[in-house]
Amino acid sequence: MKRRKIAAAVLLFAISAAGASGCQSSQETFGEKVYAGVTCYDQSDTFVSELLDCFKEELESYGGDTLEVNVTVRDAAGSQRTQNDQVKELLDGGCNVLCVNLVDRADPSEIIDLAREQEVPVIFFNREPVAEDMLQWDRIYYVGADAKQSGVMQGELAADVIQGDSSIDRNRDGKIQYVVLEGEAGHQDAIIRTENAVDTLRKKGIQLEKLSYGIANWNRAQAQTRMMQIISEHPNKIELVLANNDDMALGALDAYEKLNVTESALPVFFGIDGTEVGLEAVADSRLSGTVYNDKEGQGEAMAKLAVSLITGKGMEDMEFEKERYVYLPYSKVTSENVSEFIRKREP
Ligand code: BGC
Ligand code: CA
Repeated sequence: MKRRKIAAAVLLFAISAAGASGCQSSQETFGEKVYAGVTCYDQSDTFVSELLDCFKEELESYGGDTLEVNVTVRDAAGSQRTQNDQVKELLDGGCNVLCVNLVDRADPSEIIDLAREQEVPVIFFNREPVAEDMLQWDRIYYVGADAKQSGVMQGELAADVIQGDSSIDRNRDGKIQYVVLEGEAGHQDAIIRTENAVDTLRKKGIQLEKLSYGIANWNRAQAQTRMMQIISEHPNKIELVLANNDDMALGALDAYEKLNVTESALPVFFGIDGTEVGLEAVADSRLSGTVYNDKEGQGEAMAKLAVSLITGKGMEDMEFEKERYVYLPYSKVTSENVSEFIRKREP
């Protein structure tokens, strides 16, 4: 590690001594350089910020004597216009691969145009552009996961728990009264997760009654607020909470905690992601289950792809679907296997 740092410092010095400023000349003289310009839709998003940490770590691990690696991360803070400006800036600053977590997944055209002008490839991640936009240029890629799979898994987890514990049907009417907390409208992971979780529960023979739903934009505080309302509209009726991500499942739990509801009167809660806080909540049984959104796998795929795009090496090892998509599989997490996932995070 230390040797690598020294080597990198020598390399940097050599580049500046030679008066080279752009990556082009450093490539000619001293081997290659990956300069990744990253912009994310909102850095306060729990999952996205954990995914970015994985990506940075992975990419940096490629750095060494023959490859210089540099990452700049920008936060678009919910504005597509800001994100477009950030892309301009990153390109002007010399980045040679872009990693973009779109604010508006239906609006990538300006970014694609800017990148194409400079011939800088783009890796979109986590927020999937629509299929037609992915066809705008052949140097755009997507790294993410299959929303349907996460919904099915959440439904299976919930079905297992419900079938294994008759006390979840607290009013004993043979049906499970449930509410859904959804991510942003228009996000590929919101509606698809909900539909598939509910369909799967039905297919498993569970009678359901939907009491309400709330859109909480992936956000814990918004989920708490929505849930407080829903609880007041359906006092003591809710038996199951399906949330499109862990943060919203935890926000729902926060609402009950705030209302001082005793444990025996709580519904069961399911999330998706397996974020740090999500896994902890599964470990101490506050969440009955979650679905692991493989941030390590996604970060690794993004880093590998970024390096391959620049060096031209390793592309043959990438496992693409539809030529330019990489989807990492989800996995089910329960209190029984949660420790494996907690371990995965540790170095
Ligand atoms: C994750 C959410 C996250 C969202 C952001 C989803 O795949 O499950 O936790 O907020 O992506 O785009
Ligand atoms: Ca019931």
